[in-house]
Amino acid sequence: MIPTKRLHVITWGCQMNVYDSGRMADVLAPLGYAPASEPEGADMVILNTCHIRDKAAEKVFSELGRLRVMKEAAGGDMILAVAGCVAQAEGAEILARAPYVDIVLGPQTYHRLPEMVARASRAGNKVIETDFPPEDKFDHLPESTTPQGVTAFLTIQEGCDKFCSFCVVPYTRGAEQSRPAAAILREARHLVSQGAREITLLGQNVNAWHGEAPDGSTWGLGRLLRELAEVPDLLRLRYATSHPRDMDDDLIAVHREVPTLMPFLHLPVQSGSDRMLAAMNRKHTADDYRRIVDRLRDARPDMAMSSDFIVGHPGETEADFEATMTLVRDINFAMAYSFKYSSRPGTPAAGAPVQVPELDKDRRLQALQALLREQQVKFGAGCVGLDLPVLFTGPGRHPGQIAGRSPFLQPVHLPGSANLIGTESLVRIVANHPNSLAGTLVQERRTA
Ligand code: SAH
Ligand code: SF4
Ligand code: F3S
Repeated sequence: MIPTKRLHVITWGCQMNVYDSGRMADVLAPLGYAPASEPEGADMVILNTCHIRDKAAEKVFSELGRLRVMKEAAGGDMILAVAGCVAQAEGAEILARAPYVDIVLGPQTYHRLPEMVARASRAGNKVIETDFPPEDKFDHLPESTTPQGVTAFLTIQEGCDKFCSFCVVPYTRGAEQSRPAAAILREARHLVSQGAREITLLGQNVNAWHGEAPDGSTWGLGRLLRELAEVPDLLRLRYATSHPRDMDDDLIAVHREVPTLMPFLHLPVQSGSDRMLAAMNRKHTADDYRRIVDRLRDARPDMAMSSDFIVGHPGETEADFEATMTLVRDINFAMAYSFKYSSRPGTPAAGAPVQVPELDKDRRLQALQALLREQQVKFGAGCVGLDLPVLFTGPGRHPGQIAGRSPFLQPVHLPGSANLIGTESLVRIVANHPNSLAGTLVQERRTA
């Protein structure tokens, strides 16, 4: 019997990091590491980091300062690892700035964690693994041992070849790679056997997925979704994050034909100005985006859209920003994320001559967020009175309540018994709260 050790993982960044954190725990489980909810008293702490904006990266160093105190209180008996995109981007810099860190590992190397832990356990050893290894980490990962719950993530594609002017991802995650269909289908069935009823397929450019099919041919994401829709007891499918350039006809057709695929799509557009989209190297126009959304809504009239926006990219004028506001008004988003442009070292935009003053960025962000918030509230209000299928995911905040998710990813709270968790039923929406909907059970619809 292996003695139990305690592993605490702190996760920042995108859903792929959330997935990776789970997989790191899986890799370390055979070494006796069990999840711990607090860093205090943990034998190992992993910081799974994000480098997308400067604030995200700064958080890592302030957290490291806090952990240093804990490590010293434990007489140095705590393995401290920095994983993820800051690890990939900064590498040895992290050890220079925080010499009490033991392991620095990039996102493509975590299947090697057991060996890294063994090396770091020898007193005084530091481990840095930030090369992109020749082997595929997915071929070396064990099956997940800790169930993710009713809703689960499954990474099917990694990396990015698009090189948008502002973005670090192609550098931190490496080149685009698609996992083979058979491995994805196997993992999906495994997740369902562990209780998952909704799976979100993940990738930095998930709709660029083009993986090896079981017969040796190549499938696109549309075909993969059709196959996944056949997995017994899998009630819902989603995919994120997509690039407008990769929304092909088959994928749009799947939205029409496969009811398991939820009518909600996160499709980042970044800007509504063609001048900015060109400067960003997005390789599509604002009208291309409008057309894609029209086709999606033609395929699935209840399609709700979500997006990402950047204000203040180098060279952005008031007119460019107004074009973004116009696009937002045209599309009507159910929700969206918006960010101030943050200059990232090594990206093409960082060296651009015309940077936008901070005050202009602030003002534009506020105006954009106010408009997006208004649209989100309207979207929620429009759900009141409807009967929506809700997948029940866990207990609610109050006794006798359960929580679930609408097709449009809104949290829903309602009176109901815990034995409904993992099933989907129609819920009458009765109120729209700032971040959730309230409802009452209508009838049982589909059970797993
Ligand atoms: N692959 C996705 C997005 C990945 S990054 C896509 O192509 O859209 C998630 C979001 O972070 C981006 O959509 C963008 O809006 C934002 N982002 C990326 N780099 C940024 C930067 N340097 N400054 C501000 N926001 C940024
Ligand atoms: Fe970054 Fe662009 Fe790639 Fe998205 S498509 S990850 S924004 S480089
Ligand atoms: Fe951040 Fe890396 Fe994801 S930079 S957004 S954690 S791919």
